[in-house]
Formats: sequence, structure tokens, C-alpha cells
Amino acid sequence: MKQDMILILDLGSEENPRLAREIRALGVYSEIYPHDITQEELKALPNVRGIILNGGPNCVVDGVEIDAGDYVYNGSVPVLLAGVKGKHPWPTEAEERKAALSRFVFETCGAKTNWNMENFIADQVELIRRQVGDQKVLLALSGGVDSSVVAALLIKAIGKQLTCVHVNHGLLRKGEPEQVVAVFRDQMDANLVYVDAVDRFLDKLAGVADPEQKRKIIGAEFIRVFEEEARKLSGIRFLAQGTIYPDIIESGTKTVKAVKSHHNVGGLPEDLGFQLVEPLKMLFKDEVRACGVALGLPDSMVYRQPFPGPGLGVRCLGAITRDRLEALRESDAILREEFAAAGLAGKVWQYFTVVPDFKSVGVRDGARTFDWPVILRAVNTVDAMTATIEEVPWPVLGRITQRITGEVAGVNRVLYDLTPKPSGTIEWE
Ligand code: XMP
Repeated sequence: MKQDMILILDLGSEENPRLAREIRALGVYSEIYPHDITQEELKALPNVRGIILNGGPNCVVDGVEIDAGDYVYNGSVPVLLAGVKGKHPWPTEAEERKAALSRFVFETCGAKTNWNMENFIADQVELIRRQVGDQKVLLALSGGVDSSVVAALLIKAIGKQLTCVHVNHGLLRKGEPEQVVAVFRDQMDANLVYVDAVDRFLDKLAGVADPEQKRKIIGAEFIRVFEEEARKLSGIRFLAQGTIYPDIIESGTKTVKAVKSHHNVGGLPEDLGFQLVEPLKMLFKDEVRACGVALGLPDSMVYRQPFPGPGLGVRCLGAITRDRLEALRESDAILREEFAAAGLAGKVWQYFTVVPDFKSVGVRDGARTFDWPVILRAVNTVDAMTATIEEVPWPVLGRITQRITGEVAGVNRVLYDLTPKPSGTIEWE
């Protein structure tokens, strides 16, 4: 590792991820460790220039007030106590916080601003080569931001020793499988196994209307398909995954309970016997995107809106049928095109269409129609726990309506969902 590091030891503050981000924003690398880091673990960390012991409301665990070992306080690097026992509060105002942090990081610790994507990529390339040697690595490449960036990084590090498996389950957005093939196989010359599993998934899902049942079937079938492909490729020792820092943080620390348990992509069974390669596990989402840009991935891949694992499957309401799925895919593509044209694409957190499983009466060319509606949804949120509605300009909604009713077969109405979360969830299923 080339970068200087400021270590944050977790003495029970929920603000540690924010603090790490603020230090990284100063151009200095930072990681969070538990308060009871051992002397050996501490010694093994490279280039530690300073330590922040950051305490807070969760500083009492099982009735005992937690603290770091003496070797942390008596070591050779500067130590800052923050937020401990309410004694050393952080400034709340952003500029003051930044100034206080800068003073510690640069003046007290003398850290250098060498945290940037070129150094990160150079480090990871070296670490990946060291970990993997001349062995082969497998990656489930969904085309989402995290798996795409992992793929690009591994291609740079080990080229054809990596095999990417892209499973098209028929529930991806328009153009996505094609983009994965174009970027990774054609441009980056990667080993890419493209699996057309569309019929297989849609057959399994036929007649299944319950949302959770649909999710289970999609998840289980994904694992089955991926496992089958993995078994066809002999001699693979390593599995790469797009685990990122928030996945690890949200799995819980010693002082903060798990928000959600982190399970690896697709929940692959351990008996496949792989060792994991997780080169993004210390990056926040914006850093993952910056890494993707630095590796030459297209913006349309790196700055994508969030897309759920079960994909269009939870937006084609009730039992999925191929004709409604097609109407969903086409209307979603129109919505995305029109949002991009109106300058909304980078501004709105998540926007998509939903096709319910009922019809209504309409009229076209003087004749009665009996077709599906398309529901538009566009929401903003910070953490997806709550969400507000984007006030899309009326003319934009009008254009989208005109295009969807004019271009998408089987659709005669367009509705705009005005429901914030709560009471609605972001997805309809
Ligand atoms: P809800 O609908 O719960 O969505 O308000 C919150 C965020 O999570 C995404 N979402 C999912 N992501 N698998 C995923 O990977 C799922 O089953 C799933 N369900 C919802 C949703 O798109 C939104 O960003």
C-alpha cells in the first residue's frame, strides 16, 4: 500500500463511516477498525500516520465501557480522542469539522494527500496478483456498478485468468445484456461466458404471483445457473465479488447492530470451495464509481441508478407474462430516454415503470381498446429507508405518456405514482 492512513477506532459512534469519508475527502486514506484491535493487527497495518478514537452513544457494550488497549495510546503515532464520554465533541458545522480534521490529519500527523484512484488501482493490481498468482478467478458479472468495476479491475490485473459469467435471466433492462457483452468481451477482451437463461427463468416463474415467492425463485435459480457454469469450468480456485465498504459496515460492528446481514452476491453456497477476491471492500459507493471511470468504463454503466437483484421481475406485477414484461422493458427504456433528454437522469435517485396485471378500456383510431396501464415512479432518497416524490415537470410527463401509449404494444394509459415512502415502498412488490 502506498497511501498514508488515518485509522479510526470505533468506540461506539455511529458516525465513523461519515468520518472516514470526510478524511478520504481530504485526500487521505482512512479505515475503521474495532476498538479492541490487537497490538499485532495494529503493527501489521501499513503507513498509519494517526489514530482517531471516536466514541459515542454506544460506548457501553454488555454493561462495560469499552476502551482501546494501552499500546494504542502509547504508540508512536498521534492519537485524537473524539466524542468520548461527551468530552471531546466534534464540531457540527461542516467547515469547522473540516478545519478540525485537517489540523489533526495534516499538522499533527503530517499525512500526505496521496489517496487517489490511480494509487488505489495500482495497489489493488499488485495485491490481486499476489493473492491469485497464476490461478483462475470466477466472477458473476450482473452488469451492475459493483460487479462491473470488479471485472474491470481484475481484467487489468490478471486479464484472461478471469472468467466472467453473465446470466441473462430475462429480467434485465433493455440493452443491458448487450452492453455487458460489448464492454467486456468486445472492448476489454475479457473471458466472458454469456448465459441465455431467459426461458429457464420465465418458465420457473410462470403462474407465480406472490412477490416473495418470485424473489426466492429468481435468487435460487440464479445460484443454480451460476453453479452449473462454475462446474463446467474446471480448476477455478477464486471467486471475485463486488462487496463494498457499506456492505461490511451494514453487517454490523462490535458496537453497532447489523442493519442487514451481508451475504455474497447471489448467496453462493460455500461448498463450491472458493477463496474470495474482494478488491472493492474498502470503497464507498462514490469511490467505486470513480474507480470505474478511472478504469475506462462508460458513464452509462458507472452512474446507473440502483436496480434491484430480481430486476423487472418485481415491476411486472403478479404472475409475469412475456407480453407484459416486454411492455415493461419498452416503457422503462422510454422513461429513461426522456429523463436523460430532460436532464433528470443524474438528478433523480430512482425512476422506473411498473406494469400491473389488470386492463382498462380506452380508445384508439376510433376503436375500443382493452389494454394495460403503465405506472411511472420517480423518487429521491438518501438511504432508501424513506423516499420523496420527484416533481417531474408536466410537459416531460406528457411526452413520456404520448410515447408510451404510442409506441408500446398493449398499453393504453399512463399513471404517475404520487406516493412517498412511507406509505408506499419504492418498488411495488
Ligand atoms: P423498497 O421497495 O424496499 O426499496 O422501498 C428500497 C430499495 O431497495 C431496492 N430493492 C431491492 N434490491 N433486491 C435488491 O437487490 C430486492 O429484492 C429489492 N427490493 C427492493 C429498491 O429498488 C430500492 O432501491
